[in-house]
Amino acid sequence: MSTYDAVPYTSLPYPRTHPDHLHAMARLFGVRAASVTACRVLEIGCGSAGNLVGMAVDLPEATFVGVDPSEGEIARGRALAEAVGSTNVTLHVGSVDAVDGPFDYVIAHGVLSWVAPEVRRAILEQGRARLSQNGVFYASYNVFPGWHLRCAVRGMLQQHGSEGDPTARLRDARTFLDWLSARVGRDGGAFRAVLDEEVERLAGADDAYFFHEHLEEHNHPLWFRDFAAEARELGLQWLCEADPAATVRARAAPRAFEALRAVAGDDPISIEQHFDFLRGRSFRASLLVHLEHVRREVSGEELVDLVAASRGPGDLWIEDATLAEALARLSSRWPDGAPIAELSDDPAALADALAPLHAAGVVELRARVLGLAGEGLERPWASPLARLQARGPARVTNLRHEPIDLSADERAVLVRLDATAVPAADEAIVRRLAQLAFLRDGPR
Ligand SMILES: C[S@@+](CC[C@H](N)C(=O)[O-])C[C@H]1O[C@@H](n2cnc3c(N)ncnc32)[C@H](O)[C@@H]1O
Repeated sequence: MSTYDAVPYTSLPYPRTHPDHLHAMARLFGVRAASVTACRVLEIGCGSAGNLVGMAVDLPEATFVGVDPSEGEIARGRALAEAVGSTNVTLHVGSVDAVDGPFDYVIAHGVLSWVAPEVRRAILEQGRARLSQNGVFYASYNVFPGWHLRCAVRGMLQQHGSEGDPTARLRDARTFLDWLSARVGRDGGAFRAVLDEEVERLAGADDAYFFHEHLEEHNHPLWFRDFAAEARELGLQWLCEADPAATVRARAAPRAFEALRAVAGDDPISIEQHFDFLRGRSFRASLLVHLEHVRREVSGEELVDLVAASRGPGDLWIEDATLAEALARLSSRWPDGAPIAELSDDPAALADALAPLHAAGVVELRARVLGLAGEGLERPWASPLARLQARGPARVTNLRHEPIDLSADERAVLVRLDATAVPAADEAIVRRLAQLAFLRDGPR
């Protein structure tokens, strides 16, 4: 029996694994990733499919396949897919061997560091073998130097060596950590600081995260350079990070890029490795592609068909009038977006100008207009997944594939929004749900 049967992982949607996002990120670095509407997606280690089912309800013409060795997780995933009527999701108990490719997008989130090194290699190799020619492989993993600090706590919890079933070990580990935290002196210097940070992180984390990060037999962080070399040996090259802010880009942040290049040299892997030193990074979500692609940063001209979305510039002062106007138009369309080509008479220049704002998180780039309603809804429609999740206490997946906390009042309204008319009394809540990207106008 897998430890995931005993301590199931909370299965959430991860927006950065969504093909909409992966497509846009790959395009920035010169890979013509598959169009999203009818793409094929494989998730390795899909758990109970909270990520896959969220994407499947959003992209009914696409195909989603998940594999996981935990029978319990797959059973829960199948029940979820059935409950929301997703017929485009297939889930298998076991390894990737059970599945034939090719897939346009392969996802392994929270898996590679939490298996033995030889299994990590097998997953990368099996994923590569099923990746289409322009396919994008999302792989997340723990990294040094950040994990050197966190390993101090994991090591102590392992040495403390509690016994019993996973639930008892978890309880004992939490008690031990509290005991330790209360006794290590305030003048404990760097050790105290490391302990405080980990205690704070774990206080906000659920039991499943605590268990699988610190009590699992396997948690093998890597240096980024070693990960990239292993991937290359297996026929995959690093393209960029899934988080737009996590890759230092010449086009988006030329001064930061030059500063890193001065110490790291020209090799992009070395530049990224040095970026990890600078940030003390402990986690990466990398995008990998086949070796034959030439990694390059494309110019705005090649990106004008992408869709931009933004809440607006916030406190940023935008000097360029065209850019300011484009942002104003985008914020009026939030939570939906608009194709860059429709935002300016010179869309290529606008796409170039958006690069630093994209890297700063002010602008999102995606493959599609989502068709989200902002205001003035006549027949508000929420996805069957959101309506189902809103019946319970857990976070609810919106149409931007984010997990959102909702109040009891918001949940009570959301469960009823199936494109039939809404009582006027609920209008304010409906507007708020629309702003939170839960609604389309009219049935799907
Ligand atoms: C930390 S959980 C992450 C689950 C999910 N990806 C998420 O992020 O919510 C790791 C998952 O990897 C699965 N796993 C373990 N070994 C695996 C293997 N060899 N192939 C595929 N999945 C595996 C586990 O059963 C578990 O569901």
